Amino acid sequence: MKIPRLLQATLVVVGVYAVFRLIFDVLLDHLIPASLLTMYMFFVVAGVFMVFTFTEKGAAELVAPIKALVEDPSKRMIRNIVFVLVPLAAGYGAYSQALPGLEAPVELRSIHPAPPSTAKIFGKRVDLLSLENPYRKLEKEDPDRFAELVAEGGAVYIKNCQYCHGDKLDGQGPYAQGLNPLPLNFQDIGTIAQLQESYLFWRISTGGPGLPAEATPWNSSMPVWQNFLTEDEIWKVILYLYDYTGHRPRSWEAH
Ligand code: HEC
Repeated sequence: MKIPRLLQATLVVVGVYAVFRLIFDVLLDHLIPASLLTMYMFFVVAGVFMVFTFTEKGAAELVAPIKALVEDPSKRMIRNIVFVLVPLAAGYGAYSQALPGLEAPVELRSIHPAPPSTAKIFGKRVDLLSLENPYRKLEKEDPDRFAELVAEGGAVYIKNCQYCHGDKLDGQGPYAQGLNPLPLNFQDIGTIAQLQESYLFWRISTGGPGLPAEATPWNSSMPVWQNFLTEDEIWKVILYLYDYTGHRPRSWEAH
């Protein structure tokens, strides 16, 4: 029995597709983007079409079944079925593309985006490069007063921050489980130990909404503390973060 040319062409396209899938998915383990497969298939279909329509006769044979389906009075039933099924299939295709997937979108975010050189904090433009913790110098000059300030910072922390960042400053506060991104673990060497106090002041004052564009997509729950705390309280809570964890703030001078 002679295989109709339309079926032949379809089989070639399906066969090539299967081989591509095998190479893409199994041999290369999804290394190549799926869009490339679409592009290859476009050329394959175009190529097959060119080969199968190379002669007049071949072209006529290729479209004969389609022509018959549309024109032949005896194929009325099949024609009606096809004309209902094709739009339905197309509709379903469009619908399933529009359905949102259940997987979380991939988010590549920069955890510590470069801070702006100046930022508007407490209604003032501050220069983050030169901004310093006004209390830091007391660490050497007046250790007793400094210890008091650290304790006051601790009180601010327990009242406001431990729900998320944890009472051990390890990011394991009672709310932490429900948040994404997770509250940061200040004990970790990759957080405040790497940062300057001015950076913390900026991050704490302006919170998640204050993050620059390169840190998006970002849905940080970190509150905008300049709306709830005073400047003094923020500087003191920063003292506490370093004191409790034993980390040193990063500074421009060499130690
Ligand atoms: C509602 C939960 C929540 C509370 C309350 C909260 N934070 Fe956060 N905080 C986060 C989350 C989530 C992040 C990580 C995402 C980000 O950087 O915005 C974060 C990040 C930070 C960072 C950035 C650290 C880094 O390495 O970049 C600092 C500093 C910080 N918080 C300090 C505080 C302080 C101080 C308080 C209390 C005054 C506080 N947070 C209260 C959720 C919270």
